[in-house]
Amino acid sequence: MGKLKIVGGDRLQGEVSVSGAKNAVLPIMAACLLTSEPCTIYPVPALQDVLVMRDLLEFLGARVELCAGQMRIEARDVVPQEVSQDLMRRLRASNLVLGPLLSRFHWARIAYPGGCDIGSRPMDLHLKGLAAMGAEIGDSHGFISAQCARLQPADIQLDFPSVGATENLMMAAVLAEGTTIIRNVAKEPEIVDLQNFLNSIGARVRGAGLDTIRVDGVNQTGGVVHQLIPDRIEAGTHLVAAAITQGEVVVRDIIPEHVEAMLAKLREAGIGLEVYADAVRVTGRGRPRPVDIKTLPYPGFPTDMQPQMVSLLALADGTSTVTENIFEKRFKYVDELRRMGAEIKVEGRMAVIIGVDHLSGAVVQATDLRAAAGLVLAGLAAENTTVVEDTAHLDRGYERLDAKYNSLGANIARLP
Ligand code: UD1
Repeated sequence: MGKLKIVGGDRLQGEVSVSGAKNAVLPIMAACLLTSEPCTIYPVPALQDVLVMRDLLEFLGARVELCAGQMRIEARDVVPQEVSQDLMRRLRASNLVLGPLLSRFHWARIAYPGGCDIGSRPMDLHLKGLAAMGAEIGDSHGFISAQCARLQPADIQLDFPSVGATENLMMAAVLAEGTTIIRNVAKEPEIVDLQNFLNSIGARVRGAGLDTIRVDGVNQTGGVVHQLIPDRIEAGTHLVAAAITQGEVVVRDIIPEHVEAMLAKLREAGIGLEVYADAVRVTGRGRPRPVDIKTLPYPGFPTDMQPQMVSLLALADGTSTVTENIFEKRFKYVDELRRMGAEIKVEGRMAVIIGVDHLSGAVVQATDLRAAAGLVLAGLAAENTTVVEDTAHLDRGYERLDAKYNSLGANIARLP
């Protein structure tokens, strides 16, 4: 699973660029199943999750070429077939092939997906929406099957603004008959990127970024060259990396409005921020002030930045609280931070973080992708050496994070 050895204590200094967004590229790769024409996506981040999605598309019969951050996907010869547990459990977002397969081929059968162990991740909202569009859904023995004639117009109200359900239903509606309305949708920037991609291949989708999305079904789709948005969670992680090491870093290729909730909390914590059109300069100045955070769907504070912020607040000059409202098991990494000297109590969905004046290096285990990032950040700030085990989690979602931080003056080595 890989390990990182981090000799902490160096202030990060310099410039770092943000890669293409993981949570944009995965749904857009799935959306390529909606067309027989070739599509090119860039800049595709070199992530394990992207390679798993590529394997899944190839298994279904798509041709995928990846070269220097450009991915060309041609789904002309796709033949829908049962996707086994082996493939599906390697990636949560693998469930995003369901909507496009059903829309174009009217049949899909997939095993339940895997992904990070951060809490229960049902698919009921995806399936209720597809059923409302006329799909016949089977859900047994760990497999989901769906079939239909052509998907029908529907007016769907999501009980919760789920990112995955919004994306799956948007894609399902592209080749459906008539107009599909999806209400109480997720408003994440990656949904807007997916809408832009879909419209470029000939779909008629509007409303992404707002509460309601309307999709007018079309009969034909084409190809496109599409540029992905930058990864706002990677960007946020760099902001915290600079703050926690009391460094000074310019984070480039960032869309500041996508990270507004993080900027607001960092500002409140007393971190120096200068915001430009596509860059942010971060200056860490002594111990951060304590802040209270509640994770929420976008534009609220993202759950995917929760562990990184907890690492920062572990060093705050006072007591902070962080309430996790999206995934109920997302505090599993806290025991690892405690090994480094952090004082954190978890009560249900809330962590109470009593800031300490230093963390000390220890051997810690990454329990999921963002927990891994949080532990790396803690290791950068800690005294002496930290070894983060199971860093395969990190490579699922960050492109060369160790190399990026070493270029800013960190001392991180990969151990076998
Ligand atoms: C996406 C992101 C992930 C992020 C999450 C929340 C991708 C590839 N992944 O995951 O990084 O942490 O959004 O911002 O974009 N839920 C249900 N029923 C459903 C679907 C979801 O109850 O049918 C619940 C989940 O249990 C969870 C909440 O909704 O509590 C959020 O899940 P969702 O927004 O669907 O997250 P993902 O799309 O899986």
